[in-house]
Amino acid sequence: MNHSILVVDDEVRLADVLAAALEDLGYRATAVHSARAALTELEQTRFDLVLTDLRLPVMDGRALLREVRSRWPEVPVIVITAFAAVRDAVELVKEGAFDYIAKPFEIEDVSATIRRALRVADIVRDNERLRGELEGRYSFDTLVGNSAAFRRVIEQVTEVCETKATVLLNGESGTGKELVAKAIHFNSPRRDKPFIAVNCAAIPETLLESELFGHVKGAFTGALANRTGRFAAADGGTLFLDEIGDMPLPIQAKLLRVIQERSFEPVGATRTQTVDVRLVAATHKDMRQAVDKGSFREDLFYRLNVFPIQLPPLRDRPDDIPLLAGHFLADLAESMGKRASGFSPAAMTAMAAYDWPGNIRELHNCIERAVIVAKTQTIDVADLPQDLFVSRRSDRDAFPRDLDAELERIERDFIIEALRRNDGVQVRAAKLLGIAERSLWHRIKKLGIRLGRSIAD
Ligand SMILES: Nc1ncnc2c1ncn2[C@@H]1O[C@H](COP(=O)(O)OP(=O)(O)OP(=O)(O)O)[C@@H](O)[C@H]1O
Ligand SMILES: [Mg+2]
Repeated sequence: MNHSILVVDDEVRLADVLAAALEDLGYRATAVHSARAALTELEQTRFDLVLTDLRLPVMDGRALLREVRSRWPEVPVIVITAFAAVRDAVELVKEGAFDYIAKPFEIEDVSATIRRALRVADIVRDNERLRGELEGRYSFDTLVGNSAAFRRVIEQVTEVCETKATVLLNGESGTGKELVAKAIHFNSPRRDKPFIAVNCAAIPETLLESELFGHVKGAFTGALANRTGRFAAADGGTLFLDEIGDMPLPIQAKLLRVIQERSFEPVGATRTQTVDVRLVAATHKDMRQAVDKGSFREDLFYRLNVFPIQLPPLRDRPDDIPLLAGHFLADLAESMGKRASGFSPAAMTAMAAYDWPGNIRELHNCIERAVIVAKTQTIDVADLPQDLFVSRRSDRDAFPRDLDAELERIERDFIIEALRRNDGVQVRAAKLLGIAERSLWHRIKKLGIRLGRSIAD
């Protein structure tokens, strides 16, 4: 799109002539005749550049420059000045004007200065954008994943972390709910304040209230001293309420009050405490169903569901498996002082084909085990848990009725898939499977796999 320029000059004719000349040069130009009018225009429309006369009545060019620098710092300002006032104009450049043009001027001079200013502004803007992107990437470096589904999660985390909005994370076990909760906290303005986690399912109902809100000495048998609760401990920071779907109803009522009033009383206390806490809640349960069943308060659900983030199960984003596996391998090998540094193609294929009911945690554990048992630098299928080979979504717990037939089926599936991925080229398929080409050829014959079009279809 064409760059847009705001021309400010109290000499109406001059302003109009200049605007028309700029339009001829291919810019979009708007002429106004006072600094006030210029500010009004800038508030309503985005301009790429301001070209202003220095001598203006009421509010002069210098005051306008200051205002633009502070409110729209990315918009360059060029000052036009009478020859006699060039010294003032030089001062203005020190104050942040891009450049000045002395009257009388040729339109070519104006156009050259404008081109230069716009080019610099573009470079600055690009740099800012790049820096923003880099910072974004680095700050979420604990969250590994590049699939479309996971990028959506990162986008949502980016959007919400700057705010104080309550976040409700929903996802199967091991999908990264706690990790995302931490990413939100540590990328928020509260990052220097505490991140406190409470697992609502792990604490018995009788203790949960005092755990969250604290108690005073003597509030109940065993309350030997005052105790600060997690809410107070998280003041200024983030409280992560894990397994919120398992919170008992009486505690839900108390939590609702804290959310509404930002205050609570410790068990047995008469004084009310005020807190400033950002809430992130997580659950693997279907909360709407819990509301329908009556095990979760509807009013509390709506208070928590301000910014929901759904964490996709790993089987729905298999593209991330190689990335995560590589990340865990590098990490674990280093911390365990092992040499393992990669996966055989067959091992990678098996991992990519598995459905990971325990999600990322299961993948992490699988690699941890593999790093321990691997005898060579390359992790192979033998180093992976058997689950990856016998289990398929529905029959995970069932033994095969005929082990040989089952193994043949798996072998056949892998070979067909490897051939398909390599357009039927056997050398490459063999490589992918980690076997010799001869061996692949024997297996193809043994299993009666038909080569040719059916593979590529
Ligand atoms: N995107 C990710 N990148 C790297 N590691 C991840 C990612 N997501 C999860 N993990 C790792 O997977 C493991 C499980 O994650 P986390 O504990 O956050 O899951 P969860 O959803 O809270 O599980 P649960 O419901 O069982 O408590 C952790 O070791 C975590 O570091
Ligand atoms: Mg968790």
